[in-house]
Amino acid sequence: MSEQLCITNIGHLWGTYDISPINALRGRDLGKLPSISNAFLISRDGKIASFGQMEDLHPDHHMPVIDARGGHVFPAWCDSHTHLVHATSREKEFEMRLHGSTYEEIAAAGGGILNSANVLRNMDESELYDVSYQRFQQVQKMGTGAIEIKSGYGLDFDSEVKMLRVIRRLKELDEIPVKATFLGAHAFPAEYRNDHEGYIDLIINQMLPYIAGEGLAEYVDAFCDKGFFTPEQTARVMEAGARYGLKPKIHANELAVSGGVQVGVAHHAISVDHLEEMDEASISVLANSETIGTMLPGCAFFLGIPFPQARNMINANAKLALASDFNPGTAPSGNMNMVVSLACIKMKMTPEEAINAATINGAAAMELTSEVGSITPGKLANLIITEPMPSLAYFPYAYGHPPISKVILKGKVV
Ligand code: NIG
Ligand code: FE
Repeated sequence: MSEQLCITNIGHLWGTYDISPINALRGRDLGKLPSISNAFLISRDGKIASFGQMEDLHPDHHMPVIDARGGHVFPAWCDSHTHLVHATSREKEFEMRLHGSTYEEIAAAGGGILNSANVLRNMDESELYDVSYQRFQQVQKMGTGAIEIKSGYGLDFDSEVKMLRVIRRLKELDEIPVKATFLGAHAFPAEYRNDHEGYIDLIINQMLPYIAGEGLAEYVDAFCDKGFFTPEQTARVMEAGARYGLKPKIHANELAVSGGVQVGVAHHAISVDHLEEMDEASISVLANSETIGTMLPGCAFFLGIPFPQARNMINANAKLALASDFNPGTAPSGNMNMVVSLACIKMKMTPEEAINAATINGAAAMELTSEVGSITPGKLANLIITEPMPSLAYFPYAYGHPPISKVILKGKVV
């Protein structure tokens, strides 16, 4: 017997495509979110089987039914940039920032990423898995139906591999699609403080070949920013990644106009992420490329730095996604509902743009558009059912208490 589920009386079913977009939406298309009102949706064996208008639903009395009571349904969030695997929180640094220190000052004094690396290096793999598993369940409950997770808090061979093994175990649970990114080039570890070339050599000649050989990552990342990796160093890491079949998804332009966008686009990055500090040249290079610009408003909110200029980038015709950046230093939350609200409130994105950026374009930023990101027959039945609500705008409007009634993953209520 196949497992089926029918959701009835959906006020508005959003993100409906008979054939899914393969590529990310760009520019004005980001504002177009197709929908059906007064709809039903049927899932079979964890996948979307069909959907349509209630009047076309032929009742099958054997099928379990969820009555959405006029609530809206969208595709579950596709969170394409996270550091969900990490050892512990960093609220002491948060307090230091409340007293006036900046993120860069704390990092330069050996805190920040290096602080997280110290703790993680001393945590065994099973404990790291346990704390990460808790977060993985938590984000699913909040509506995340596909996720990318990075390494980058190990910064030595064994600890980077340990992180990637934990990511692999989360992937093997087969609960939601998971993509793994190797971020050895997140920071220079203390033991290489005076030997940056030595660390890049370790990444390129030891970590990358092993990680690629074991199939532990799909992507390679580098933190291309002021005080971290230069565009030239980033380019070498991306070139080495390419030799092993790892495509780039990189951290760019968080702290400064760093050249990260240009180097990412030149190396055909799937995405360049952060983009708080953009000049006209960087916007134009991004907009004239196939690379997705992934904005992480939780980071700007938490650090009190400028938000990405979403409207300028949309007007320039860029491809844009939204993601949580869930990490202990700059965005200690994997709540994509809040990310969507922040995108509207602080970046003036429309609800339609924000939802597209957090679903189909997030899927594209993980090369997962054939599996998730829209309401399309054959894709995973990963859905958010809202409480009855007056309009789509009510969802981002109601920040802090997202009106979610149920999260459905692979056709099952979470
Ligand atoms: O995406 N910016 C670089 N990496 C992370 C933060 C890392 C940390 O502070 O732990 C980010 O914001
Ligand atoms: Fe990040």
